[in-house]
Amino acid sequence: MEQYIIKGGNPLVGEVEIGGAKNAALAILSAAIMTDETVLIDNLPDVNDINVLLDAIMGIGASVHRVDRHTVRINGKGVSNFKIEYEYMKKIRASYYLLGALLGKYKRAEVALPGGCNIGSRPIDQHLKGFRALGADVEIEHGKIIAEADRLVGKHIYFDVVSVGATINVMMAATMAEGLTILENVAKEPHVVDVANFLNSMGANIRGAGTDVIKIRGVQRFHRTEYSVIPDQIEAGTFMFAAAATRGDVTVCNVIPKHLEATVAKLLEIGCEVEEFDDAVRVVSKGNLKSTHVKTLPYPGFPTDMQPQIGVTLALCRGTSMVTESIFENHFKYLEELARMGANIKVEGNSATIEGVRRFSGARISAPDLRAGAALCIAGLAADGITIVDDIVYIQRGYERFEEKLRSLGAIMERVSSEKDIRKFTLKVS
Ligand code: UD1
Repeated sequence: MEQYIIKGGNPLVGEVEIGGAKNAALAILSAAIMTDETVLIDNLPDVNDINVLLDAIMGIGASVHRVDRHTVRINGKGVSNFKIEYEYMKKIRASYYLLGALLGKYKRAEVALPGGCNIGSRPIDQHLKGFRALGADVEIEHGKIIAEADRLVGKHIYFDVVSVGATINVMMAATMAEGLTILENVAKEPHVVDVANFLNSMGANIRGAGTDVIKIRGVQRFHRTEYSVIPDQIEAGTFMFAAAATRGDVTVCNVIPKHLEATVAKLLEIGCEVEEFDDAVRVVSKGNLKSTHVKTLPYPGFPTDMQPQIGVTLALCRGTSMVTESIFENHFKYLEELARMGANIKVEGNSATIEGVRRFSGARISAPDLRAGAALCIAGLAADGITIVDDIVYIQRGYERFEEKLRSLGAIMERVSSEKDIRKFTLKVS
């Protein structure tokens, strides 16, 4: 089992290139099987979640040609199997996007139910409600979702909760339904817009993505396209908070600053300087940072995927901060690890009261999930002494060359896999 070992205390300084958005790419790759023609997708992050999804896509008979680390050519003509096995769902929940894609194109799909997850119970009732409204018969049997339809027909659908997954999944299925579908109370995240743009580039007719109402006029078939995935706002935000917490000076390059507004607003509130360029944002953190309050909300609110990164930073800000998590329960697990590094935190329900401390002290900690894992590495980078982060497999699911990028900013850290490696690193840095 690999770990990160970090010697903290160095401000991060320099420029870092941000990759393509994992969560947009997962949906776009799934949607790519909806045409029999070849689709070229570029600016993919080379991370485990993407590679597992590509295996699942090959598993149903599509051809996948990896042009390079960040580019893939997919042809869905050979799709002959409409079943996504538990083996994939277990590794990557978002393979459920193949449900919307298969149902839309082939009018049938069988996908293992996603299991529980470290950040809460995560129901998928809104996805199923949408498929049923379009005319699909959806049954849950033997741990699988089985969806079938003779034909899908456009409908007016109002989502009870704002869900990124349900919005994208039902939008995909509706692109090939007969007539007009109107989706209300939809998610407005940049990746919802990116998936809609991708589908439109294949010939879909989707309007309104990025607003509360999406209108989709069904078409019969899609055609070839070439598409580049948007930059990852969460990867960018992670490096921006890493700059803040380590009192550094980092420019994130290849980003869309508009997507980072909620993150920038909080960095300014705690006293960082932020400079925006056309496709880059620079964060400078010096002197004492001050506390603030934050509540996670659907876009354009502050993202739940950035909550651990801001939580770690606030634990080093002077004064009392309040973090409220309104999207997922169990998204505070990392705070127990942070307390072991000297943070002063009290959790009640979905709120955490954080009393800022001057320093963390390095400790052996575990990554509870993807974003919290990245946030705990930030804590290690800001801490006195040595931190060892276990379970980094979570981090590798969503961050490409994470330690290399941090090292290029001056971080002293390595990926290790034995006690011998740990001793070697400790000797080298002491
Ligand atoms: C996506 C992101 C995830 C991010 C989350 C919120 C991907 C692959 N994952 O997850 O990184 O943290 O958005 O921005 O893009 N809900 C229901 N019923 C449903 C669906 C959702 O009640 O059918 C609830 C969830 O429990 C949660 C809220 O809606 O409280 C938002 O979840 P959702 O937006 O669906 O998250 P995901 O799409 O799973």
